[in-house]
Amino acid sequence: MNDFSLSPYADTEWLLIEEGADSAREHEIESILTIGNGYLGIRASIAEGSRFSHAATFAAGLYVKDGALGPRFAVLPDWLQVEVTIEDQRLSLEPGRTLEHRRLLDLRQGILWRDWRQQDPSGRITGLRFLQLASLADRHLLVQSLAITAENYAGKISLATRLTPFHLSPADKAGADRAGTLMRVSQTEVAIASASELHGPSSTMRQGNTTKPNGEQWSWEVSLGERLRLDRIVTVFTSRDVVRPARVASDHLESMCARGFSALVQAHVDAWRRRWEAAEIQIVGDDKAQRALRFATYHLVGAANPVDEHVSIGARGLTGEAYRGHVFWDTEIYMLPFYVLTDPPAARSLLMYRYNTLEAARRKAKAYGYNGALYAWESADTGDDVTPQTSVAPDGRLVAIRTGEREQHISADIAYAVWQYWRATGDDAFMVAAGAEILVETARFWASRAEFDHDGRAHIRQVIGPDEYHELVDDNAYTNAIAKFNLERAADTVATLERQQNGDWQLVSRRLGLTKKERFSWQGLAAALITGFDPATNLIEQFSGFFQLEEVDVAAQRGSVIPIDVQLGPERLRQSKAIKQADVVALSALLWEQWPAAVHEANFRYYEPRTAHGSSLSPGFYALVAARLGDLALAQTYFRQAAEIDLSDNMGNASGGVHMGALGGLWQAAVFGAAGLRVQENGIALDPHLLPGWVAMVFPLQWRGRLLHVHIDAEPRQIEIAVEGGGNLNLAIFEGPSCLAHAGRRYVSRGEQSGWGQWQELGQ
Ligand code: BGC
Repeated sequence: MNDFSLSPYADTEWLLIEEGADSAREHEIESILTIGNGYLGIRASIAEGSRFSHAATFAAGLYVKDGALGPRFAVLPDWLQVEVTIEDQRLSLEPGRTLEHRRLLDLRQGILWRDWRQQDPSGRITGLRFLQLASLADRHLLVQSLAITAENYAGKISLATRLTPFHLSPADKAGADRAGTLMRVSQTEVAIASASELHGPSSTMRQGNTTKPNGEQWSWEVSLGERLRLDRIVTVFTSRDVVRPARVASDHLESMCARGFSALVQAHVDAWRRRWEAAEIQIVGDDKAQRALRFATYHLVGAANPVDEHVSIGARGLTGEAYRGHVFWDTEIYMLPFYVLTDPPAARSLLMYRYNTLEAARRKAKAYGYNGALYAWESADTGDDVTPQTSVAPDGRLVAIRTGEREQHISADIAYAVWQYWRATGDDAFMVAAGAEILVETARFWASRAEFDHDGRAHIRQVIGPDEYHELVDDNAYTNAIAKFNLERAADTVATLERQQNGDWQLVSRRLGLTKKERFSWQGLAAALITGFDPATNLIEQFSGFFQLEEVDVAAQRGSVIPIDVQLGPERLRQSKAIKQADVVALSALLWEQWPAAVHEANFRYYEPRTAHGSSLSPGFYALVAARLGDLALAQTYFRQAAEIDLSDNMGNASGGVHMGALGGLWQAAVFGAAGLRVQENGIALDPHLLPGWVAMVFPLQWRGRLLHVHIDAEPRQIEIAVEGGGNLNLAIFEGPSCLAHAGRRYVSRGEQSGWGQWQELGQ
């Protein structure tokens, strides 16, 4: 048998282990153990299938039309299916006795393992080890391997896979001897080609019998204790990527086979190692937090594709069908910071998706009678709004969904993300070619959307803010504040680019018909927008009239299995102060610098008991803000709540895929909350509030081409930062000492009785 010795990562802390088999949890397990590489995502279904399986492979950006409900994720053919038959007994978890069954998601190596020992009704014991991966080194490559041991018998082992052979045109003959399949998803052609090798103890069969129309088959007589291994290399291309996907898939398969199975797996493992080097957060002292952050990082890495500027990440990434694969503000507000600071090319691609769908946003604005760009609340491949029009309420009634029309803050959220990316990366080329146009067009939308009163104040009326329990409200604090940010940043970005006399920008500016007058009008509008802030109480009213609503005891009902919106019913909910998710508190997370700490404190204390956390996005931001406010016990409670959304399925809906926004929010709670990172114009600042039990927190991040390694100790308090690459930057402690740091050096600041000591340079 050819040599292939990979096994699960030795440090079991990196393994997410699901012991046994529990049909009730199967869909949830399939979601959380998904493997993905941003181009493809594959749920962790068992290869032989079962009544409980919901197998699916998704390709980013590939949707099928679904009548009035709009597009939903296309499900690709199940390339993983393998049936194992011992003599005439098909192995499955059901008949016979399962002696061992375990799935291990190897977060470190990006591999899903499965160990299974099954005794069939005739008493034969077969041991199986499966491996599957979606290569991070080559996103068109999938790999599967299955080792089978006849533990206590000799006899015939048969294997069958399920990929129908290609139907190739004569010009595509090169792939004719390979198994594969070609399908059409709406306008898109999808080609999957596969090559298999079965290794026995003394020889190898290159290819199975493909006489059956659907897949390959092998049979082998094994002696007692012998082992077989089936290795499969699979390539996937679509007509979104290349002109002739079948031809390219089969050519690519040839070259992958030439490289050899072990080399392909190794390249993938190396690619994951590099991503972990750029993104791993270490938490010393809190294994649970450590595990949750690894899990979050794993799925965030597996969701993005830095080389595709026409796709974004859906609310559940490539891990499940909930929300039909649609893209929301979750990407820009909750996930994007992770990519900005650990993988800027991925962040850039995600923003380019918004640039490439700007026409659709312009169309939407126009359709509602506004100028500029109003982005889709839910978006798929074209960028047109695909929010469903209706949904079925828990009591069976059909209710109208108004978010597609009214949840407009997404336009400003995208502008916010563009600007954050620019500040952290200094990617002027992106700003000139794409980012500034997004800022301008979204600012234009707000300029046409807001209404001035006689008193000179500007209002944005009849919107839905992040708190979707209250629809069609006036002057939602979140919407107004983020729109204000959008207008201000659009104005000052345009002024900056103008000052730089950049020739390319002059062309864009002319094409957009920008004038100084328009730019000044944005500033005027930004200053006039109602903020809802009351200096007497420091409170920001979530929307006009919120403070007059009925008090309900949200905190008391939090543990209940019936969510508060169902308990109260839509009418009462609307009249109450119960809110779905971070709204004013999200402003604290995103725009901290705009208000003094006392304002954040007052609003957090006011809104926290009234928040039902009916969205998975919410707890992460509450953890972040609680940490910044120094309420570490509450920060920990919310951190754990966010951490368990998928890992303990604490919202009961992980079966539809992992909650990508919540995973991004958890990452932000650690980096922006516990470490207190602020990305600034000339460098970074930290404001550590490590959570209880965290002895140290260590993480890398990128700032304008420099790689920084941050190490924060709790006791004695100390921050150490090593700087790699690039020119000088400013290292600071929030409201504390700062220093100019040079590449190749390390800097340390130690905690003092009150505050922090001056930074000291430690050299190499
Ligand atoms: C939340 C939205 C979110 C969406 C997708 C909804 O329940 O209220 O804020 O964008 O889910 O995650």
